[in-house]
Amino acid sequence: MASRTPPLTRHVVSINDLTNQEIEGIFDIAQRYLDELGDPNLDYRIAQSTDVGSKFILATLFYEPSTRTRLSFESAMLRLGGEIITSDDPAASSAKKGESLADTIRVISNYSDIIVIRHPRDGAAKLAAEYSPIPIINGGDGAHEHPTQTLCDLFTLTKKGKRTENNKKPRRLEGMKVAISGDLKGSRTIHSFVYALARFGAIIEPMPAAGMELPAHVDRRLREEFQSRTIAKNAQSGDDQIDVLYVTSDKPHQQSLFAGPEVVDYGVAIQKKVDAVYVTRFQKERYSEEKQAPYLKIDAKFMKDARYADASVMHPLPRVDELDVDLDTDRRAVYFQQAAYGVPIRMALITMLLNLKNKSLQKFNDGFAKPTYFVYRQPIDRGVRCINKNCISHEPSEQQYVANKFFVVPDTQPHGFRLRCLYCETDIEETATRDFVVTDTTKHTYTRGLEALHHAAPDKIKHLVICESETDAQKHGFRLNPGKVAKAS
Ligand code: NCD
Repeated sequence: MASRTPPLTRHVVSINDLTNQEIEGIFDIAQRYLDELGDPNLDYRIAQSTDVGSKFILATLFYEPSTRTRLSFESAMLRLGGEIITSDDPAASSAKKGESLADTIRVISNYSDIIVIRHPRDGAAKLAAEYSPIPIINGGDGAHEHPTQTLCDLFTLTKKGKRTENNKKPRRLEGMKVAISGDLKGSRTIHSFVYALARFGAIIEPMPAAGMELPAHVDRRLREEFQSRTIAKNAQSGDDQIDVLYVTSDKPHQQSLFAGPEVVDYGVAIQKKVDAVYVTRFQKERYSEEKQAPYLKIDAKFMKDARYADASVMHPLPRVDELDVDLDTDRRAVYFQQAAYGVPIRMALITMLLNLKNKSLQKFNDGFAKPTYFVYRQPIDRGVRCINKNCISHEPSEQQYVANKFFVVPDTQPHGFRLRCLYCETDIEETATRDFVVTDTTKHTYTRGLEALHHAAPDKIKHLVICESETDAQKHGFRLNPGKVAKAS
């Protein structure tokens, strides 16, 4: 499989494809559009159009229901003076005939200049990006991410509080305390949102419904890559404490102070007041069983607590019954503004990705500093597979177009590495039954752990295939490389 993406094409698959500076740049442009084209009576609403995008076409390719994301992208493109084409019903497109996403993208990228995709499979937007010579924007891929919703969410947060004519400056995200409630496991909006909150130094207070906690791999990335601060109740005092320490190599002072256990109680009591309560609906379409666990309803009674006296109430919408309509008239409710910001924010993102008005606007640079993890790649029918059954790599129609691609991420135990799917970013860790070995298909031997990948010469790597266990390797006729001794675990 060959990636056909020219190196300079920028895609926004994850919120982590954008640097903090780029996100702030998007906010500046969005604000500029609001100032120039906004409704004088409603400061969150775009009311006029411009022609800066008049030569361009946006394609919306939606394999899942959408109201806000698709229509606000389309409105944004029309407000920029551009044109739109749309495919919003998989039953009425060639997907129904069995056409792969990879082929669809290679076709549509000749009909448009930028594509927004929404898909039920985690990692679908990444696959689309691999086959697209034009920018791909992820409008939500399964339970993975929804980066442009996060841009709307952060922008809403920066506008929190009263601003006078003389003080139009956006609020800083750093130090803001944001409670996130509901389905933190199935909500893609949450996954992009928490990464961004962590990166901007906000404090996250998870309030999950039972069994809908943040996925372990998201939580772990927050701690290990983004130095997030999350809240937990102190069992004795009931006070909020920052309870998780995120040790990273670029924070050596933290490492030296707190080296040792991964989770360390800072013991620091933090401000009780919450700046925002972000509510999510139960993502029933992501679960096989229909039954919903007891779910917290955010209503006037909940918001009466002094902690929430000045907390904005946010929701990516649609709401079902987790957010009481009685709050609609509450001064703290900002969810309809949050949805309205979809237009200026998406206008700004399109402006940057298409480099419209390129003299006056900041260009995208090389993106968020990616961890320089080694990427392992093998054909899809060889060796270890992604454990996330909803990953695009398991979609039958994409089998000829995806590969077994994993980041090899340094880990503490037991063999020093874990794998992270390149498409859906789910981590695959070693367990009692999964004990990675690297097989050498030329010598018919295997070594324990993943270290052999790192030591292999570049021309030898294609002969190395990761198996889930020694038993698996032995079943396929490989024997332990006598020269290599197992690392103590
Ligand atoms: C969200 C989504 O599709 O993930 N909707 C949206 O884009 N605003 C949230 C949801 O469906 O619950």
